[in-house]
Amino acid sequence: MRQKLLIFGLTILFIGVIIAISIQSVESQNDMVERGKYLVDAVAACGYCHTPRAGAEYNMDMYLAGHPATESSPRYNFNMMRQSIFLLTSPKLSAFSGPFGTSFASNLTPDKETGLGEWTEKMFIDAIRTGHHQGTKDNRKIFPPMQTLTTKHYAQMSDTDLKAIWAYLKSIKPVKNEVSPILNRFGRPF
Ligand code: HEC
Repeated sequence: MRQKLLIFGLTILFIGVIIAISIQSVESQNDMVERGKYLVDAVAACGYCHTPRAGAEYNMDMYLAGHPATESSPRYNFNMMRQSIFLLTSPKLSAFSGPFGTSFASNLTPDKETGLGEWTEKMFIDAIRTGHHQGTKDNRKIFPPMQTLTTKHYAQMSDTDLKAIWAYLKSIKPVKNEVSPILNRFGRPF
């Protein structure tokens, strides 16, 4: 009888420990997503370019969904250099044109076809750390204004913070929005 009670007691204890561990790991995952949200929204202001505007406000239906597919884009002209103009932006502040060509803020939502749905955490962290498209050194360099942000600023974030940002980006609502590929300085695709 005593032995049975002991086994019963130990089983209950074991189950208790397993439940406590799983609650803790769900909590730490939640903490990570919360931290990611804080970094994206309050510190790094990723939405400044990746969330298009509706007038003066952000269009929250397009939260972090990038330059709207249907929007036209600005086109830099080299004569502007004489007027000391270096960078043009679209009215929704999500496309940028300069002597380098034209760039369009990417769709950072987890949509599989048009967002980061097929990306891995490694691709994301490597893209931020190296400044190369999809984190692959052989790929093209990420265009301005994201280029400097990656290599000179966000690249300095700790792995823990970049992982938290990734965890948060995976948790947001997927939005289907096919962002235009970059254009060269003649306004043509590469
Ligand atoms: C000043 C505007 C701006 C800000 C702020 C900004 N981005 Fe970007 N981002 C862009 C533009 C424009 C592109 C497209 C660049 C290209 O296609 O080469 C881009 C591209 C990206 C890409 C795709 C890179 C690739 O490999 O093609 C990722 C991922 C990304 N940004 C994440 C972020 C995150 C996360 C933040 C905040 C921590 C952020 N961005 C803040 C403008 C910005």
